[in-house]
Amino acid sequence: MGDEYLLDTPTVRDFIRDVRAAIADTSSPAAACDAIRPRFAELLADPDWLPQRFQEPNPESGMGGGIGQWLLFRGADRELTLFALVVPPGSTTPIHDHLAWGLVGLYRGTQDEEIYDTAVELTERRALDPGDFYALLPPRDDIHRVRTTSAEQSVSIHLLTNDTGCVWRHSYDSGKPEPFRSGYVNVPCDP
Ligand SMILES: [Fe+2]
Repeated sequence: MGDEYLLDTPTVRDFIRDVRAAIADTSSPAAACDAIRPRFAELLADPDWLPQRFQEPNPESGMGGGIGQWLLFRGADRELTLFALVVPPGSTTPIHDHLAWGLVGLYRGTQDEEIYDTAVELTERRALDPGDFYALLPPRDDIHRVRTTSAEQSVSIHLLTNDTGCVWRHSYDSGKPEPFRSGYVNVPCDP
């Protein structure tokens, strides 16, 4: 399987090309995240690139609560994915990890985010507005949950260096790590 563009537009292709070039030019995840920041901010500020169909909740959610995880791009070796996470008003994700570094930012709506340490103790709470984004550099900030606080669904954009929807990661709602695979709304995972 080659590169998969579920949203095949010049904006997404140019973005992925620039991100790959930036990653290739840096020697650490932290440096790569810094290098990608300007392009990521540009994508979050562009009101037109993400079609409405990728901003819809999913009643059959693998995460529950009608949460939709829409794959937009996945690299051939699954080392890089771009996806939109849609969380309906009042819904909360499980407490979960990602197991990969990258950038996560809010595109639409508002969210409260709670960050946990590996003992599943709450360490930080922050409110997010459209355009806000942060770097995930596991283990730092890797375990969290988000809740939509706006009257409309929230849409966050994730650029992460694994196949986040299909890898087995963890949910922590029970207070300890449990196997968790969120899936994507629009692409099946391999059996
Ligand atoms: Fe997350």
